Order: sequence, then C-alpha cells, then structure tokens
Amino acid sequence: MKTLLIARENAPVSRYGLPIPYGWYRIMLSDELGVGVVQTVRLFDREWVLFRDAKGQVGLFEPHCPHLGAHLGVGGKVDGELLRCPFHNWGFDHQGFCRHIPYARSMPPSLSREPVLKGLPVVEANRMIWAWFHPTGAAPMWQVPDVPETANPGWHTRHHPVFEIRTIAQEIAENSVDAAHLKYVHGQAAALDVGSTYTGHLRTTALKGPMSIEDSRGKRIDCEFSVDFEQSGPGIQVVRMSRHVSLVMLITITPVESELTHLRFSFLHPDYSEDPVRQALVEDFIQEQVGERGQYVGVVADLPIWNNKIYHRKPLLCDGDGKIVEFRRWFSQFYQ
Ligand code: FES
Ligand SMILES: [Fe+2]
Repeated sequence: MKTLLIARENAPVSRYGLPIPYGWYRIMLSDELGVGVVQTVRLFDREWVLFRDAKGQVGLFEPHCPHLGAHLGVGGKVDGELLRCPFHNWGFDHQGFCRHIPYARSMPPSLSREPVLKGLPVVEANRMIWAWFHPTGAAPMWQVPDVPETANPGWHTRHHPVFEIRTIAQEIAENSVDAAHLKYVHGQAAALDVGSTYTGHLRTTALKGPMSIEDSRGKRIDCEFSVDFEQSGPGIQVVRMSRHVSLVMLITITPVESELTHLRFSFLHPDYSEDPVRQALVEDFIQEQVGERGQYVGVVADLPIWNNKIYHRKPLLCDGDGKIVEFRRWFSQFYQ
C-alpha cells in the first residue's frame, strides 16, 4: 500500500506565514481628510493617528504620545500646524517634532534634534494619501507613480467601494499571473498567459489586440484594445487601456492586518457623455472588472478563494499555470 506523504514545508503555521511587504500603500482619498481632522486608522497590523494641519500637511504616527502615553487619536486636536495631545497639550508637527510645550520654562534641547513621534513617510499623489511602510523603518526606495489622468479636468474618476479580504497583498497581485484560474473562476474562454517584464520594483506587461466585453444584455462586443499594465511594488497597479476607449484602472492593495487586506479600484476615463457607444463600453468593462455579469465574473469571484485559501511556499504546479514562480521570485524582494 502506498503512503501519502505530506511535505513539511506545505504545512502552514498561519494561512500565509509571510510578513507585510514593504512599499507605498494607499491610505485614503485626499478629500477624505479635511484640514484640522484627526483620525485613528488601522494599517499594517497596528493603529496610527492621521491628521491634516492648517497648512494642509499630513502626518501619520504611532498613536501614543511620547510624554505620558495618551492616545493622540482620542481627543487630540489640530492647532494651526500642530497636533495637540489631549492630556497636557504638547504640540507635534506633521514631521513628528515636538514644537511646543505650553507649560515648559524651556523646551528640552533634544526635542529640536529629531522627531519624537514615530511615523511613516506620507505623500499626496493622484489625489490620494499614500504611506511608505517598511518593517525596519527604511526610507522610501521609489516614488508613487504619477497618474496624470487624476488631475485632468476632462476625465471622470469613479472610486469603487473597498473590498475587505482575509488575505495578503501577494495573493491579490499573484492573481494576475495565475493564467489558469481565469477560465475556471472568471469564465474567460481561454487562459491569457502574458509574460511580464521585471525591473527593480516594477512589473510591466503590454497587450494589444482584439478583446471582447459583455454588454448589459449579455452580448459579447468585440473591440480593439491596447493595455499597458504596471505594478509598482506590492500596493499599486496601473492599467491603462487605449484605442477603442481610454480607461485607466488604478488598483491599490493595502495591508490592514497581517492577513486582512483592502483592495480598491479607481476607474478614470474621458467624459463620454456625448458618446453613448464608448460610454456603454466603459460601463461594461467596469462591470466586468468588479461586478457580476452573466457567466463572466470580475474580482468578486476571487473573494471566496482568497478568503479561505492557504499559501503554499512550494506549490504543486503544471506547465499551464502561468508565470507564478517568476512572479514570486520578483515579489520576494519586498520581504527583505
Ligand atoms: S501625554 Fe501627551 S502631552 Fe502629556
Ligand atoms: Fe482572479
């Protein structure tokens, strides 16, 4: 009788057993954080306090005051360029320096030397707030990619509600190189196995040719598309479609807990209100990405898989599985 051996390396400790990878991650839309607002946010498996000062500058810090430990997100207030602690009113700027202690006869000299609030680098780009997370606090190694369409007044932007998924950033990104699942999960007629180019933190793919989209009546429409895909680290993917219609998809993946991730889609396209054919194509394409239409199902079909699967470090693969090993080799840099 044969014995079925289960490889030790395939026995998961947690469902994934991987740390949070480093990179830039979308925190929220810029419009969602008004001047003078202080918020407690959960990101990267811990709490942070986020605020926007009177000059519009944004800070993101560990939430407990370095003085006697009050929670800055519970009663903390913006006072000009400072975040005031609710306990003794010390004031901290958006870089984490303590700039004012209202009752100190002289400020401790050490306070001018370095920030006392530990925080993350934050930038605003593409009308969004982004934070750089690195487990050892290393400085940013690249920039958030510019998506100029977000600043184009002739373009519309639609932000789809967040998908909260019990998974990790790598699993969501790996989905796009998993050629075989496209047929069995999403109902695509043929697996599309497109090679990627890997350069440093970037993964790029270009695709040209005919594509078919299902319209609201379930009819397939054939059209010409050119698709440029760029993934910038674990958290940002920009998909730019052109030719028949222009459409940009900004896909962001943000770790909230070690195994809970927020996936967001923002769609940008020119104003097609005078062009019902192109408008309908854009609607159909968006539905196909995030919705459920006929037998072709978008990302919602991935959710039950992601919410319940485990991660095999050494999966059993076949030759039709796509470039999973190559992708994992590239992605592993973000765990260094
Ligand atoms: S605990 Fe924050 S000022 Fe004292
Ligand atoms: Fe998928």
